[in-house]
Amino acid sequence: MSKAGASKKDTTKASSEAAASASISVGDFAEDLPVYSGTMGPQVIDVSKLYTDTDYFTYDPGFTSTASCASKITFIDGDKGLLLYRGYPIDQLAEFGNYLETCHLLLYGELPNEAENKDFIQRVTRHTMIHEQMNRFFTGFRRDAHPMAVMVGSVGALSAFYHDSTDISDPVQRDIASIRMIAKMPTMAAMAYKYSIGQPFIYPRNDLDYAANFLSMCFAVPCEPFQVNPVLARAMDRIFILHADHEQNASTSTVRLAGSSGANPFACISAGIACLWGPAHGGANEAALDMLEQIGTIDRIPEFIARAKDKNDPFRLMGFGHRVYKNYDPRARIMQKTCHEVLNETGSDHDPTLPVAMELEKIALEDEYFVSRKLYPNVDFYSGITLRALGFPRTMFTVLFALARTVGWIAQWKEMIEDPDQRIGRPRQLYTGPVMRSYAEIDQR
Ligand code: SDX
Repeated sequence: MSKAGASKKDTTKASSEAAASASISVGDFAEDLPVYSGTMGPQVIDVSKLYTDTDYFTYDPGFTSTASCASKITFIDGDKGLLLYRGYPIDQLAEFGNYLETCHLLLYGELPNEAENKDFIQRVTRHTMIHEQMNRFFTGFRRDAHPMAVMVGSVGALSAFYHDSTDISDPVQRDIASIRMIAKMPTMAAMAYKYSIGQPFIYPRNDLDYAANFLSMCFAVPCEPFQVNPVLARAMDRIFILHADHEQNASTSTVRLAGSSGANPFACISAGIACLWGPAHGGANEAALDMLEQIGTIDRIPEFIARAKDKNDPFRLMGFGHRVYKNYDPRARIMQKTCHEVLNETGSDHDPTLPVAMELEKIALEDEYFVSRKLYPNVDFYSGITLRALGFPRTMFTVLFALARTVGWIAQWKEMIEDPDQRIGRPRQLYTGPVMRSYAEIDQR
């Protein structure tokens, strides 16, 4: 017999769409929980009524076994090393597509046709400038502020400048906010970089494509013409594609949770940027290059492999391992290929960190500790070497990740807002604190 009695009606309703059911018996409760199937990947057991029916919570710190939502955007098969954006494999999009059409795909569910593509590019291009008063916002930061700190603050501040796209109940405003975020992130990322090196801001150029325009805003100066290297622009565009979305990772889940309260999209993206900054997440690209430089030479690799395996040493191989991928991260393969292209094009193929990275990868992939835990290089392992060769300081690496991931965050935010079953996210807990006790006067303590 379930606790609430009435919930049987709810469970019956839910199970009418269920593929099967899972029986759970705990204490004197017995319950059949609906099981749902998606189009690909694991089935799910719907536990949403478990507490109302049985007084039990589920317990899953880190959400290793929890599906937080239903989504049509990105699919990952960690065992096969498969990553699909709206069904398209990442390697095909990286090889044959470009970032803006990938943005259209993630946002609206389909690759654009000629007319849709032209319109989408035009709409993004027309939103690349930011409110001129925001320049003063940037100059309020210390010059040596980490660019990620600048991005968290300035993206959140967009809601102070663009009131006409913060009403999340209006689909037109949701769409404008999405276009604005995609369009303005490169401008703001470039401004954060220019400000950190004391150079003047460079305005967007409407005659350049998305990645070329970003490189121009970062590396052009007002004193002379700037020619974007097409090989590097193509590499930058491909790096943006690789980082565009990745299912319900920590920063995307942060954006969804912030959005579930009805917060405006700019504030939600700012929260996502803050979460991405952590070294266990998007900050790993910066940490991976620091690690490779700390190792320095191939002969020191065994020392660091031993440290990574030592439970008493907090050191981990940055850019290695993944919560979902238990095979090679498909993005890491493409990033390694792009790394070689960029190093050759920029004449940095003498970069001493590349042979260290390749030898470290080789040794780790043959070491039982990493093999048994299915730890492979992830997207961050080669990206630091590549981005440095493109001319970026390591403090900008996670900013570039945030720039590229903005479309994924905003697509997932839109999907959550438009989900009829959407409600505010409010997890519970296993309480392990003091049982109830009475207040004691200070002379009684
Ligand atoms: C990203 O979620 C996403 O999709 C994220 C991302 C995206 O696109 O959004 O893919 C981007 O964040 C990639 C990951 C970047 N982070 C790093 O490269 C940091 C180094 N990696 C680790 O911190 C770790 O692998 C995580 C955080 C990525 C995953 O952690 P999990 O899934 O919680 O794994 P775990 O900590 O439970 O590790 C399992 C075992 C442990 O050993 P045992 O306790 O079983 O003996 O593997 C070990 C860990 O100690 N381990 C590592 C290791 N990663 C895991 N040991 C050495 N070096 C590592 N890097």
